[in-house]
Amino acid sequence: MSLSDSITHVLVGFSVGSLSDLEERLPERSVLILEESSVIEARRAHEQAAKFRCVAALLEAPTQDEEHPERVVAAVQRPPRVQAVMPGVEYGVVSAAALADAWGVPGAGLAAARVFRDKARLRAVAGAAGIAQPAWAEVSGPDEVERFRSVHGRACVIKPGNSQASLGVQLLEPDDDVHALWSHTAGARDTRQRARYADADRYLVEQRLYGPEVSVEVLVHQGVVGFRNITAKTVLQSRYPVELAHTVPAGLPAATEEALYRAVRLLAEAAGFRNGVLHAEWILGDGGPYLVECAARLPGDNIPQLIDLAYGGSLADDLLGILEGGGPVGPRDPLGGAAIRFLSSPPGVVAEVLGEEKARAAKGVHSVHVGVAPGDTVRPTTSSWERAGHVIATGADGPDAAANAEDVAGRIAVVCTDGAAEEERR
Ligand SMILES: Nc1ncnc2c1ncn2[C@@H]1O[C@H](COP(=O)(O)OP(=O)(O)OP(=O)(O)O)[C@@H](O)[C@H]1O
Ligand SMILES: [Mg+2]
Repeated sequence: MSLSDSITHVLVGFSVGSLSDLEERLPERSVLILEESSVIEARRAHEQAAKFRCVAALLEAPTQDEEHPERVVAAVQRPPRVQAVMPGVEYGVVSAAALADAWGVPGAGLAAARVFRDKARLRAVAGAAGIAQPAWAEVSGPDEVERFRSVHGRACVIKPGNSQASLGVQLLEPDDDVHALWSHTAGARDTRQRARYADADRYLVEQRLYGPEVSVEVLVHQGVVGFRNITAKTVLQSRYPVELAHTVPAGLPAATEEALYRAVRLLAEAAGFRNGVLHAEWILGDGGPYLVECAARLPGDNIPQLIDLAYGGSLADDLLGILEGGGPVGPRDPLGGAAIRFLSSPPGVVAEVLGEEKARAAKGVHSVHVGVAPGDTVRPTTSSWERAGHVIATGADGPDAAANAEDVAGRIAVVCTDGAAEEERR
């Protein structure tokens, strides 16, 4: 089948968020989406894609076969007028880079993309570059975790080697029994977004880090870091480290900011990253920033929107410009702050949601999104998919916006009845 002349942009991995961004910027029938057949089916992607005017076609392709990126290159013909290839999801980062390389448009670079899609590879590269990080090891089961704990201390973290959304990530205390807990990590499956390939079942154990958590978002043009931002984050204090809030900009001392930017530049360079965006997560320890992980795609959790609210302009537009072969995007100063606070709720069946109206009238409120309704079942929060909604607020700076967001969120109450008791009564 020959591809239409109207296609100028290729999105690797189906993503409603990316399509909404592209819809505002691109003409009709300009976007080709590539996705695994199982994901197309699980996410009813044809039905959803049909709502976007900018979509020209949605094709099945082996976009998640990260061990064999040559397969996707062989499977998809180069659209004659292609200008840019971008990953729509975490699992499309390697294929997007391979296609960009093959088609001669700006991309991450295949080798770099593989580094940022594989937590073990990332740790190896970061370690060689002298970037501070916890001790770590690749493991395939609880016995190996136990061996690691006996050498590096019993407080540790176990996680899948290449997943997202904190799925399967567990923070272990010294007394926790890894044999009892292992199945939660090993059983974590992103079945809606992830195709099954043999290399998916890989795990890491890491020393547990303690301290404030931040992420750094940068735009990179031909290997040079330009626009940059630091986001502060709050994480659920539990075995499952689900992200609860983000604040832009973080409002850190200048020396800490410099140390973070320096570490990100070093990491981009060590990985050989060429063009795109990096979202790098760090924990601030005694000696400075320690690397948690780094993704080569736009961050989730509405962080791009927070950056746009705080700095003006559009991060998605700027990224698109770089991937289309435009010039670099330089650093700029924030004009104010923006913050998101996720709504939490006890597990159970939702009886009612209170306070939405009061929340919408609060100082600095930008948006309120309640993701649950009466009758819905709320499961215990173990990954980002299980949060009950979010609010976004702005403020004079990051911390002011965070205080406003906290106030907005505090006005909303998700009232649940005990799910287990409810089941029993029926
Ligand atoms: N070594 C560590 N020490 C302490 N906390 C950690 C460590 N590794 C991970 N965490 C915590 O677990 C969270 C999730 O881990 P990680 O970022 O590796 O997984 P992920 O599934 O890729 O997450 P996401 O997609 O939500 O960013 C981190 O944001 C951090 O709060
Ligand atoms: Mg992470």
